[in-house]
Amino acid sequence: MIDARGLSKRYGDLAAVDDVSFSIGKGEIVGFLGPNGAGKTTTMRMITGFLPPTDGTAVVAGHDIFDDPIAARGAIGYLPETPPLYPEMTVTSYLDFVARIKGVARKQRRDSVDRAMERTDLTGVNRQVIGTLSKGFRQRVGLAQAIVHDPPVLILDEPTAGLDPLQIREIRALIAELTAPGAAQNTVILSTHIMAEVDAICRRVILINRGRKVVDAPLEELTADGTTLEEIFARHTSRDAADLEPDEPAEEAAS
Ligand SMILES: Nc1ncnc2c1ncn2[C@@H]1O[C@H](COP(=O)(O)OP(=O)(O)OP(=O)(O)O)[C@@H](O)[C@H]1O
Ligand SMILES: [Mg+2]
Repeated sequence: MIDARGLSKRYGDLAAVDDVSFSIGKGEIVGFLGPNGAGKTTTMRMITGFLPPTDGTAVVAGHDIFDDPIAARGAIGYLPETPPLYPEMTVTSYLDFVARIKGVARKQRRDSVDRAMERTDLTGVNRQVIGTLSKGFRQRVGLAQAIVHDPPVLILDEPTAGLDPLQIREIRALIAELTAPGAAQNTVILSTHIMAEVDAICRRVILINRGRKVVDAPLEELTADGTTLEEIFARHTSRDAADLEPDEPAEEAAS
């Protein structure tokens, strides 16, 4: 469903993202990890078509972001780090506006908006002005705008950042629900700094460091010998690790 093919982004001398490739199948939930500045947001923005790659491309639900950008974008629900909310609009009118932009037919728009609000537990605040909502509720509106056109692919950039533990749990439950076997079965790539979140909802981990992919494996495999995700993260993102070739097994270097 998501194919990143040699994605690279340069800013002058900085390789923010450096030849990153991966392939994510239908229904997979992938945790996208890396320290601050590793290139997670940049990678996600390239896949969503918001930022043109310097090199490489991505294919989303069979649509190349260069050759078929409208279809590729249409297949994606994107929750950016800072969701583009309009504080003076009500939840309903904002979601209706987004649905219109995403090309949801007029007749279906109301149902789409109602469904997105139900799934994100927003129905109770549907007439409230977004600017007066708490941060957690605004985050839910961010999620609702990502799913309002029922896309098969979800790209979520730190979906639980800044939320309280209860809200974190609810958002996680929602993501798990969106990817549950049956119904829609979305494919999800989500970035996070919370390892417990990866443990709770992801089955596969992609870790990037200084723009390069350094780990791409099933969570089960990574933690089979009792290693924690924190240890894996530290091992691959420490200063020493950054000097290793990405494919060099860090286990050997560490022992
Ligand atoms: N428009 C830009 N111009 C110059 N450098 C940029 C630009 N956008 C991003 N960068 C740089 O690219 C690198 C990757 O940034 P990115 O936001 O993708 O990291 P991230 O992994 O999402 O980090 P965080 O965990 O802090 O969100 C950083 O060094 C950042 O400063
Ligand atoms: Mg980021």
